[in-house]
Amino acid sequence: RNILIINGPNLNLTGTRKPEIYGSTTLTQINERIARHASEKGLTCNFYQSNHEGAIIDKIHEARGVYAGVIINAGAYSHYSYAIRDAIEAVELPFIEVHLSNIFARDEFRSKSVLSAVCRGHISGFGADSYLLGVEALALVLDKQAA
Ligand code: DQA
Repeated sequence: RNILIINGPNLNLTGTRKPEIYGSTTLTQINERIARHASEKGLTCNFYQSNHEGAIIDKIHEARGVYAGVIINAGAYSHYSYAIRDAIEAVELPFIEVHLSNIFARDEFRSKSVLSAVCRGHISGFGADSYLLGVEALALVLDKQAA
């Protein structure tokens, strides 16, 4: 089974952007860890990062029929993009929402994600490990689906 990992705006800067909040591991390094963890779970993964809302929406549309599920960190779009929310809802795939930081412990505007309600679940606050927990969660969801 193949899964897709989508990272939204500014996440390409992970490792150097506010390391005290987002950690000093780069996105490339995080992706290597995700791939290793996923393969232990019998999953293969593809990675996509974009700073553009429409490009992320196109990628979500293309995921239908290609991937078993998606892990998404939509960055700041998580807080206000109804367009990404609608795209997630439209493709009817299991999405796991992840965030590096604990979005509930920061600025008020970050404490709401408009994506959470259309995702199967939400993981935030564990740094790069949030993605590994996301893989874990998606693997469990897919196993239940197959059973
Ligand atoms: C983030 C949290 C968002 O509020 C922020 O805009 C990001 C990263 C996280 O992974 O912690 O870009 O999604």
